[in-house]
Amino acid sequence: MFPTVAVTRNGLPGPGMTRLAEAATLRIATSEVPLKRDALVDLAADATAMVCVSGDQLDASFMERCPAIRLLAVISAGYDSVDVAAARQRGLVVTNTPGVLHETVADLTFGLILAARRRLVEGDRLVRAGGWTQSDYRLLFAQDVHGARLGIVGYGEIGRAVARRAVGFGMSIVHHTRTRRDDAVSSWLPLDELLRTSDIVSLHVPLGVATRGMIGERELRLMRPTATLVNTARGAIVDEAALVRALHEGWIGSAGLDVQAVEPNPDPADPLLSAPNCVVLPHVGSATEATRGAMVDLAVDNVLRFLGGRPVLTLIPELRG
Ligand code: 8YV
Repeated sequence: MFPTVAVTRNGLPGPGMTRLAEAATLRIATSEVPLKRDALVDLAADATAMVCVSGDQLDASFMERCPAIRLLAVISAGYDSVDVAAARQRGLVVTNTPGVLHETVADLTFGLILAARRRLVEGDRLVRAGGWTQSDYRLLFAQDVHGARLGIVGYGEIGRAVARRAVGFGMSIVHHTRTRRDDAVSSWLPLDELLRTSDIVSLHVPLGVATRGMIGERELRLMRPTATLVNTARGAIVDEAALVRALHEGWIGSAGLDVQAVEPNPDPADPLLSAPNCVVLPHVGSATEATRGAMVDLAVDNVLRFLGGRPVLTLIPELRG
């Protein structure tokens, strides 16, 4: 008898799911959007393992209601949606997908830096609306990207991939992490100093107790009035209400966001969407066909190894050792 594996999204890309189907009975959600709690429990109740994404809330009560589950294979680098303490207590294995998405997320980070500082979205809208009526020499004056000072908050594999790209733009690069660590392209700074002196502040920390609300009013007020805040990490790292005020009142110059505190967010009346100089994307940092396929593949490798009694490839750090 094949073990049962629950998969919380339909239509996952890449060859991974075909390989998984050869070794397990799959219970695949019929939806491509996050399942509500009861539907998630129904899907996973008798499964040994679950392939899930970062929007699925896997807390203690979910684990209690799905006691057969031994492995949570999250198709995401971030795993803030998993209650790690509860997983540890129950002896669950939790894996994520580092090592395959950082370059793609770093590409998008640069897209947001360019879009926010050079007003790309605004320019596109202006042309489409027939607003390009004269050759105004000052049309869409913006802020340079090349030569700017980039402050990277969180210097893991995504932060370092952003730094590598910044070298090509002739930027001066600084970063902040909990433990001080310089390298050939970037030097460490205390957070406040990074915020005070950077033209661009790009967030690459995981969401956790120490980082929730890390960028609030105090931090935004430390930033330069021309500075750009970029967030491709998690929305809740930034106090969104404070960010809206910062943009309206000119504490900072612009923002480029791939993430929001509540996702998905179909509310066109969200104040963030009417804040000036703010580019917002629907959490697509890792969303290329190749990268999402590689993420699914890695998650599947973890499941297959687990089912075969072998060590998983990418156990989350909190459960190691
Ligand atoms: C998406 C991400 O969450 O890896 C992460 O931490 O935020 C993204 O890659 C993911 O692809 C959807 O599950």
